[in-house]
Amino acid sequence: MNHSTIPIKVTIVGTGYVGLVTGACLAELGHQVTCLDVDRKKIARLKRGLMPIYEPGLAVLVKKNLKAKRLFFTTDYPKAIRGSLIIMIAVGTPARRDGLADLSYVFQAAKSIARALVDYAVIVDKSTVPVGTAQKVKRIIGQYYQGRFDVVSCPEFLREGSAIKDFMHPDRIVIGGETKKAINLLLDVFKPIRALRLVTDLASAELIKYASNAFLATKISFINEISNICDHVSADVKEVAYGMGLDNRISPSFLKAGIGYGGSCFPKDVSALHQMAGRNGYEFKLLKSVIQVNNLQRQVALRKAKNLLGSLKNKKIGVMGLAFKKNTDDIRESAAIDLIKLLQKAGSVVSAFDPMASLNAKKRLQGVEIARSPYSLAKGQDLLIIATEWPEFRELDWKRIKGLMRSPQLVDGRNLLDQNTMRKLGYKYLGIGR
Ligand code: UDX
Ligand code: UDX
Repeated sequence: MNHSTIPIKVTIVGTGYVGLVTGACLAELGHQVTCLDVDRKKIARLKRGLMPIYEPGLAVLVKKNLKAKRLFFTTDYPKAIRGSLIIMIAVGTPARRDGLADLSYVFQAAKSIARALVDYAVIVDKSTVPVGTAQKVKRIIGQYYQGRFDVVSCPEFLREGSAIKDFMHPDRIVIGGETKKAINLLLDVFKPIRALRLVTDLASAELIKYASNAFLATKISFINEISNICDHVSADVKEVAYGMGLDNRISPSFLKAGIGYGGSCFPKDVSALHQMAGRNGYEFKLLKSVIQVNNLQRQVALRKAKNLLGSLKNKKIGVMGLAFKKNTDDIRESAAIDLIKLLQKAGSVVSAFDPMASLNAKKRLQGVEIARSPYSLAKGQDLLIIATEWPEFRELDWKRIKGLMRSPQLVDGRNLLDQNTMRKLGYKYLGIGR
């Protein structure tokens, strides 16, 4: 996909999920991209084409563009910044204890960029940052660099597991800026991508990102609340969500009930927006509830397990899925990990399986045996709980699994399986809101 007319020199600071995907995709579009990170080990491995994360299609794209000499990796700021017209900041913005975003990495990156600048460049905030951060970045750069530069906010909307597709075929590209020159340069960078462009001021672009993530999280908490009502009135949340989604104004996406959202974005962005509103003198009541509902939703799976097993003490429970969602090895804020901790607290003996995230989860979990396959996980279990929506769980030989379990009981925390089929097979099956 190399339709770019003008290759532009771009530096991306931070090679996490967002930085690395953005770098690889911009190189694929034909630009000259240098990915910079302070983590020397990560950069050394990337130079050899070794990925720090699992993201479908990413390794192929990185290797291809390394070979084509459009993608470079470095830890050297002056080397990367020299000659770059566009410099993107894509370092992490984790949640602080008080819920606000920790911007220290963003500011550190801005300072290091400013010290290395020798010519006009556009500094682009890709990281998710509170309103006003672009202005602060501008001030920091101005302190260390006296030449001309612009700051632009260009939020990302990449979902882990489909990040490359989301980058290449986005619903929209949002560019918040103050000068025509900077905005036009960003428009040039994204020229080969067919999507609607929305040009705004800096603050609006920053808020669009938070508002979008908070709205999607609200949709999930809303359908989770509906699922809890379904349990009380014997309705099926899948039918209800389908019926709601047929209304174009509602749309069917992000209406899957389950054990709650996780990941590196929703939990921190919702709480950051909630705190940010508070700091500006406005109490965002709705978001407080969205967060509460999400935390309580983990307990729903626990209650269902109790329904089936009576007491959870000393019961053998196998948790299927550790990643915060399908198609990733990321376990940040994963509902599965929270659930395992709750089960352990209740005295259960927990083992787990995940197609991709086992290695990452091992570092975070104690006293949990990690199985090599769903079948070895099933052996001798009193109960299985599906905690992550991996599609391959649908394709398993559930008849065989039934034979391996001590008692065939299943809590489907993601409503992944067909309940009638499972019951016909002889399982005691409980989904969420059905
Ligand atoms: C990104 C965004 O930046 C965040 O705002 C958004 O909400 C989620 O996605 P992510 O890509 O997941 O974060 O971050 P992470 O995987 O933590 O990677 C950040 C990278 O930046 C790391 O490789 C780290 O070594 C690097 N880094 C951090 C720097 O290069 N310089 C620093 O000063 C700090
Ligand atoms: C999200 C946003 O979608 C993306 O635009 C943003 O820029 C980064 O954050 P990501 O966190 O990678 O992406 O995954 P997403 O697909 O949004 O799922 C987030 C969480 O919500 C997962 O834990 C998932 O299991 C859960 N989810 C999602 C539901 O519980 N129900 C749904 O219907 C959809």
